[in-house]
Amino acid sequence: MIAYPNDLDTSSIVYLNGEFVPLIHAYISPLDRGFLFSDGVYEVVPVYNGSAFFLKMHFNRLKRSLSSIQLEIDFDIHNFHNIVNQLVSKNVGENQIIYLQITRGVAKRNHAFPDNSSNPTIFAMSNSLVRPTSDERDNGVAAITSDDLRWNRCEIKSISLLANVLARQKAITKKATEAILIKDKKLQEGAASNIWIVKNSNVYIPPTGSNILEGIRVGIIEAICDKLKIIFTRKNISYNELMKADEVFLTSATKEILAITMIDDKKIGNANHNNKPGPIFKKIRFEYDELISEITNNI
Ligand code: PDD
Repeated sequence: MIAYPNDLDTSSIVYLNGEFVPLIHAYISPLDRGFLFSDGVYEVVPVYNGSAFFLKMHFNRLKRSLSSIQLEIDFDIHNFHNIVNQLVSKNVGENQIIYLQITRGVAKRNHAFPDNSSNPTIFAMSNSLVRPTSDERDNGVAAITSDDLRWNRCEIKSISLLANVLARQKAITKKATEAILIKDKKLQEGAASNIWIVKNSNVYIPPTGSNILEGIRVGIIEAICDKLKIIFTRKNISYNELMKADEVFLTSATKEILAITMIDDKKIGNANHNNKPGPIFKKIRFEYDELISEITNNI
Protein backbone atom coordinates (compact mmCIF):
# COMPACT_ATOMS: atom_id res chain seq x y z
CA MET A 1 0.00 0.00 0.00
CA ILE A 2 1.38 3.39 -0.97
CA ALA A 3 1.29 6.04 1.79
CA TYR A 4 0.08 9.17 0.01
CA PRO A 5 0.38 12.57 1.71
CA ASN A 6 -2.96 14.01 2.89
CA ASP A 7 -2.97 16.88 0.40
CA LEU A 8 -3.17 14.49 -2.58
CA ASP A 9 -6.52 13.54 -4.02
CA THR A 10 -6.05 9.81 -4.50
CA SER A 11 -9.40 9.52 -6.29
CA SER A 12 -8.22 11.77 -9.14
CA ILE A 13 -8.08 9.87 -12.43
CA VAL A 14 -4.69 9.21 -13.99
CA TYR A 15 -3.66 7.44 -17.18
CA LEU A 16 -1.30 4.48 -17.01
CA ASN A 17 -0.44 2.25 -19.96
CA GLY A 18 -3.80 2.36 -21.72
CA GLU A 19 -6.08 2.65 -18.70
CA PHE A 20 -7.71 5.50 -16.80
CA VAL A 21 -7.70 4.61 -13.10
CA PRO A 22 -7.91 6.42 -9.74
CA LEU A 23 -4.44 7.46 -8.59
CA ILE A 24 -4.69 5.05 -5.66
CA HIS A 25 -4.90 2.13 -8.11
CA ALA A 26 -2.02 3.18 -10.35
CA TYR A 27 1.08 1.05 -9.74
CA ILE A 28 4.47 1.11 -11.45
CA SER A 29 7.17 -1.51 -11.01
CA PRO A 30 10.28 -0.48 -9.04
CA LEU A 31 12.20 -1.92 -11.99
CA ASP A 32 10.83 0.76 -14.29
CA ARG A 33 13.80 2.44 -15.97
CA GLY A 34 12.26 5.83 -15.21
CA PHE A 35 12.58 5.03 -11.49
CA LEU A 36 16.03 3.40 -11.72
CA PHE A 37 17.77 5.55 -14.35
CA SER A 38 15.52 8.59 -15.02
CA ASP A 39 15.36 7.01 -18.47
CA GLY A 40 12.42 8.96 -19.83
CA VAL A 41 11.01 12.23 -21.05
CA TYR A 42 7.94 14.32 -20.23
CA GLU A 43 5.65 17.15 -21.24
CA VAL A 44 3.54 19.67 -19.31
CA VAL A 45 0.51 21.05 -21.15
CA PRO A 46 -1.76 23.79 -19.80
CA VAL A 47 -5.50 23.46 -20.35
CA TYR A 48 -7.81 26.48 -20.30
CA ASN A 49 -11.59 26.24 -20.31
CA GLY A 50 -11.24 22.54 -21.02
CA SER A 51 -9.02 23.00 -24.11
CA ALA A 52 -5.34 22.16 -24.37
CA PHE A 53 -3.16 25.18 -25.20
CA PHE A 54 -0.90 24.61 -28.24
CA LEU A 55 -1.05 20.83 -27.89
CA LYS A 56 0.54 20.20 -31.29
CA MET A 57 3.68 22.12 -30.30
CA HIS A 58 3.96 20.08 -27.08
CA PHE A 59 3.52 16.91 -29.10
CA ASN A 60 6.26 17.90 -31.55
CA ARG A 61 8.66 18.59 -28.70
CA LEU A 62 7.75 15.26 -27.06
CA LYS A 63 8.59 13.48 -30.32
CA ARG A 64 11.94 15.32 -30.49
CA SER A 65 12.72 14.33 -26.88
CA LEU A 66 11.79 10.68 -27.54
CA SER A 67 13.91 10.55 -30.65
CA SER A 68 16.88 12.19 -28.83
CA ILE A 69 16.89 9.33 -26.31
CA GLN A 70 16.22 6.73 -29.03
CA LEU A 71 12.90 5.75 -27.54
CA GLU A 72 10.94 4.92 -30.66
CA ILE A 73 7.33 4.18 -29.81
CA ASP A 74 4.02 4.06 -31.51
CA PHE A 75 2.48 7.25 -30.13
CA ASP A 76 0.86 9.82 -32.36
CA ILE A 77 -0.89 13.14 -31.92
CA HIS A 78 -4.26 11.37 -31.68
CA ASN A 79 -3.05 9.23 -28.77
CA PHE A 80 -1.78 12.37 -27.05
CA HIS A 81 -4.95 14.30 -27.78
CA ASN A 82 -7.12 11.46 -26.51
CA ILE A 83 -5.20 11.07 -23.23
CA VAL A 84 -5.27 14.82 -22.59
CA ASN A 85 -8.98 15.20 -23.41
CA GLN A 86 -10.05 12.20 -21.38
CA LEU A 87 -8.03 13.29 -18.36
CA VAL A 88 -9.51 16.77 -18.62
CA SER A 89 -13.07 15.43 -18.70
CA LYS A 90 -12.50 12.83 -15.96
CA ASN A 91 -11.01 15.39 -13.56
CA VAL A 92 -12.52 18.58 -12.17
CA GLY A 93 -11.70 22.15 -13.10
CA GLU A 94 -11.82 24.29 -16.21
CA ASN A 95 -8.12 25.05 -16.02
CA GLN A 96 -5.85 22.05 -15.58
CA ILE A 97 -2.24 21.15 -16.12
CA ILE A 98 -1.54 17.83 -17.80
CA TYR A 99 1.72 16.04 -17.05
CA LEU A 100 2.67 13.16 -19.35
CA GLN A 101 5.79 11.06 -19.01
CA ILE A 102 7.14 8.21 -21.11
CA THR A 103 9.90 5.95 -19.83
CA ARG A 104 11.77 3.05 -21.41
CA GLY A 105 9.66 0.73 -19.25
CA VAL A 106 10.41 -2.28 -17.07
CA ALA A 107 13.49 -4.48 -17.58
CA LYS A 108 16.22 -6.25 -15.67
CA ARG A 109 18.51 -3.49 -14.36
CA ASN A 110 21.23 -2.83 -16.90
CA HIS A 111 22.48 0.55 -18.14
CA ALA A 112 22.20 -0.58 -21.76
CA PHE A 113 18.77 -0.47 -23.39
CA PRO A 114 16.73 -3.67 -22.94
CA ASP A 115 16.47 -5.86 -26.05
CA ASN A 116 12.75 -5.34 -26.09
CA SER A 117 12.95 -1.59 -25.95
CA SER A 118 9.41 -1.02 -27.22
CA ASN A 119 7.83 -1.66 -23.84
CA PRO A 120 7.45 1.91 -22.59
CA THR A 121 5.58 3.06 -19.53
CA ILE A 122 3.23 5.91 -20.34
CA PHE A 123 1.82 7.82 -17.40
CA ALA A 124 -0.24 11.00 -17.37
CA MET A 125 -2.09 12.98 -14.71
CA SER A 126 -3.99 16.19 -14.32
CA ASN A 127 -3.65 18.84 -11.63
CA SER A 128 -5.49 22.11 -11.22
CA LEU A 129 -3.75 24.93 -12.99
CA VAL A 130 -3.21 27.65 -10.42
CA ARG A 131 -2.86 30.83 -12.46
CA PRO A 132 -0.57 33.65 -11.28
CA THR A 133 -2.09 35.72 -8.47
CA SER A 134 -2.91 39.39 -9.00
CA ASP A 135 -0.01 40.28 -6.68
CA GLU A 136 2.41 38.28 -8.88
CA ARG A 137 1.00 39.88 -12.04
CA ASP A 138 1.02 43.43 -10.66
CA ASN A 139 4.31 43.37 -8.77
CA GLY A 140 6.34 40.63 -10.41
CA VAL A 141 8.35 38.04 -8.50
CA ALA A 142 11.85 37.67 -7.07
CA ALA A 143 14.52 35.32 -8.44
CA ILE A 144 18.02 34.30 -7.43
CA THR A 145 20.91 33.32 -9.68
CA SER A 146 22.52 29.93 -9.28
CA ASP A 147 25.28 27.95 -11.02
CA ASP A 148 23.95 25.75 -13.81
CA LEU A 149 24.97 22.26 -12.69
CA ARG A 150 22.98 20.38 -15.35
CA TRP A 151 24.19 18.11 -18.14
CA ASN A 152 24.89 19.14 -21.75
CA ARG A 153 21.61 18.00 -23.32
CA CYS A 154 19.18 20.45 -21.75
CA GLU A 155 17.17 20.66 -24.98
CA ILE A 156 15.76 17.22 -24.11
CA LYS A 157 12.80 17.42 -21.75
CA SER A 158 14.28 14.68 -19.60
CA ILE A 159 12.73 13.48 -16.33
CA SER A 160 16.22 13.64 -14.81
CA LEU A 161 15.79 16.93 -12.96
CA LEU A 162 17.88 16.74 -9.80
CA ALA A 163 19.98 19.83 -10.61
CA ASN A 164 16.77 21.75 -11.44
CA VAL A 165 15.16 20.54 -8.19
CA LEU A 166 18.13 21.68 -6.11
CA ALA A 167 18.23 25.08 -7.84
CA ARG A 168 14.50 25.67 -7.37
CA GLN A 169 14.71 24.64 -3.71
CA LYS A 170 17.59 27.11 -3.21
CA ALA A 171 15.31 29.84 -4.60
CA ILE A 172 12.45 28.82 -2.30
CA THR A 173 14.75 28.85 0.72
CA LYS A 174 15.64 32.43 -0.19
CA LYS A 175 11.95 33.30 -0.56
CA ALA A 176 12.29 33.70 -4.33
CA THR A 177 10.08 32.18 -7.03
CA GLU A 178 12.72 30.98 -9.49
CA ALA A 179 16.44 30.23 -9.78
CA ILE A 180 18.08 31.71 -12.87
CA LEU A 181 20.83 29.37 -14.05
CA ILE A 182 24.19 30.87 -15.00
CA LYS A 183 26.92 29.00 -16.88
CA ASP A 184 30.25 30.55 -17.91
CA LYS A 185 28.92 33.92 -16.66
CA LYS A 186 26.04 33.66 -19.14
CA LEU A 187 22.31 33.45 -18.57
CA GLN A 188 20.83 30.07 -19.56
CA GLU A 189 17.27 29.66 -18.29
CA GLY A 190 15.31 29.13 -15.09
CA ALA A 191 15.14 25.91 -13.06
CA ALA A 192 11.78 25.28 -14.77
CA SER A 193 11.24 28.26 -17.08
CA ASN A 194 12.78 30.31 -19.88
CA ILE A 195 14.22 33.69 -18.92
CA TRP A 196 13.98 36.79 -21.10
CA ILE A 197 15.41 40.28 -20.88
CA VAL A 198 14.27 43.58 -22.37
CA LYS A 199 16.77 46.30 -23.29
CA ASN A 200 15.82 49.51 -25.11
CA SER A 201 12.42 47.97 -25.91
CA ASN A 202 13.97 44.94 -27.65
CA VAL A 203 13.42 41.42 -26.37
CA TYR A 204 16.30 38.93 -25.96
CA ILE A 205 16.58 35.25 -25.05
CA PRO A 206 19.66 32.97 -25.15
CA PRO A 207 20.24 30.99 -28.37
CA THR A 208 18.68 27.60 -29.01
CA GLY A 209 21.07 24.71 -28.49
CA SER A 210 21.88 22.11 -25.90
CA ASN A 211 22.06 24.55 -22.96
CA ILE A 212 18.38 25.34 -22.72
CA LEU A 213 14.99 23.81 -23.28
CA GLU A 214 13.08 25.27 -26.20
CA GLY A 215 9.97 26.28 -24.26
CA ILE A 216 6.66 26.19 -26.07
CA ARG A 217 6.12 29.76 -24.88
CA VAL A 218 9.28 30.80 -26.73
CA GLY A 219 7.57 30.25 -30.09
CA ILE A 220 4.35 31.83 -28.85
CA ILE A 221 6.15 34.96 -27.61
CA GLU A 222 8.20 35.20 -30.77
CA ALA A 223 4.91 35.36 -32.68
CA ILE A 224 3.52 37.94 -30.24
CA CYS A 225 6.66 40.09 -30.70
CA ASP A 226 6.20 39.86 -34.46
CA LYS A 227 2.63 41.01 -34.14
CA LEU A 228 3.59 43.91 -31.85
CA LYS A 229 6.60 44.82 -34.02
CA ILE A 230 8.91 44.29 -31.06
CA ILE A 231 12.38 43.18 -32.11
CA PHE A 232 13.09 39.68 -30.80
CA THR A 233 16.69 38.43 -30.86
CA ARG A 234 18.41 35.27 -29.68
CA LYS A 235 21.85 36.01 -28.30
CA ASN A 236 24.17 35.19 -25.45
CA ILE A 237 23.29 37.31 -22.44
CA SER A 238 25.92 37.96 -19.79
CA TYR A 239 25.22 38.09 -16.08
CA ASN A 240 25.85 41.87 -16.22
CA GLU A 241 23.38 42.34 -19.06
CA LEU A 242 20.83 40.39 -17.05
CA MET A 243 21.31 42.56 -13.97
CA LYS A 244 21.25 45.78 -16.02
CA ALA A 245 18.22 44.85 -18.13
CA ASP A 246 15.26 47.23 -18.31
CA GLU A 247 12.96 44.30 -17.70
CA VAL A 248 13.32 40.59 -17.02
CA PHE A 249 10.57 38.02 -17.27
CA LEU A 250 10.07 34.27 -17.15
CA THR A 251 7.78 31.96 -19.09
CA SER A 252 6.55 28.42 -18.51
CA ALA A 253 3.45 26.30 -18.97
CA THR A 254 2.58 26.56 -15.29
CA LYS A 255 3.68 30.12 -14.48
CA GLU A 256 2.62 31.58 -17.86
CA ILE A 257 4.47 34.93 -18.05
CA LEU A 258 5.72 36.66 -14.94
CA ALA A 259 7.89 39.74 -14.57
CA ILE A 260 11.01 39.29 -12.43
CA THR A 261 11.46 42.55 -10.55
CA MET A 262 14.17 41.46 -8.12
CA ILE A 263 17.25 39.29 -8.68
CA ASP A 264 19.64 38.39 -5.86
CA ASP A 265 17.94 41.08 -3.75
CA LYS A 266 18.65 43.79 -6.35
CA LYS A 267 15.85 45.68 -8.05
CA ILE A 268 15.63 45.18 -11.80
CA GLY A 269 14.80 47.89 -14.29
CA ASN A 270 14.91 51.62 -14.37
CA ALA A 271 13.09 53.84 -11.97
CA ASN A 272 10.62 54.81 -14.74
CA HIS A 273 8.41 51.93 -13.96
CA ASN A 274 9.23 51.97 -10.28
CA ASN A 275 10.51 48.42 -10.31
CA LYS A 276 7.09 47.14 -11.19
CA PRO A 277 6.55 44.97 -14.29
CA GLY A 278 7.64 47.03 -17.31
CA PRO A 279 5.76 48.15 -20.43
CA ILE A 280 7.06 45.47 -22.81
CA PHE A 281 6.18 42.72 -20.35
CA LYS A 282 2.70 44.21 -19.97
CA LYS A 283 2.10 44.30 -23.74
CA ILE A 284 3.22 40.70 -24.18
CA ARG A 285 1.24 39.59 -21.13
CA PHE A 286 -1.87 41.22 -22.58
CA GLU A 287 -1.49 39.35 -25.87
CA TYR A 288 -0.84 36.04 -24.08
CA ASP A 289 -4.06 36.56 -22.08
CA GLU A 290 -5.87 37.26 -25.37
CA LEU A 291 -4.66 33.91 -26.72
CA ILE A 292 -5.90 32.16 -23.59
CA SER A 293 -9.30 33.75 -23.86
CA GLU A 294 -9.57 32.91 -27.56
CA ILE A 295 -8.53 29.33 -26.99
CA THR A 296 -10.01 26.59 -29.02
CA ASN A 297 -8.15 23.32 -29.45
CA ASN A 298 -4.96 24.36 -31.25
CA ILE A 299 -4.39 20.88 -32.58
N1 PDD B 1 8.96 23.27 -17.26
N2 PDD B 1 13.05 25.43 -19.31
C1 PDD B 1 12.91 24.44 -18.40
C2 PDD B 1 14.15 23.85 -17.79
C3 PDD B 1 11.64 23.99 -18.05
O1 PDD B 1 11.52 22.98 -17.15
C4 PDD B 1 10.50 24.60 -18.62
C5 PDD B 1 9.10 24.17 -18.28
C6 PDD B 1 10.69 25.63 -19.56
C7 PDD B 1 9.53 26.32 -20.25
O2 PDD B 1 8.95 25.50 -21.22
P1 PDD B 1 7.40 25.62 -21.59
O3 PDD B 1 7.16 27.02 -22.05
O4 PDD B 1 7.23 24.63 -22.66
O5 PDD B 1 6.61 25.29 -20.34
C8 PDD B 1 11.99 26.01 -19.89
C9 PDD B 1 7.69 22.65 -16.92
C10 PDD B 1 6.57 23.61 -16.76
C11 PDD B 1 7.89 21.72 -15.73
O6 PDD B 1 8.93 21.09 -15.70
O7 PDD B 1 7.00 21.59 -14.90
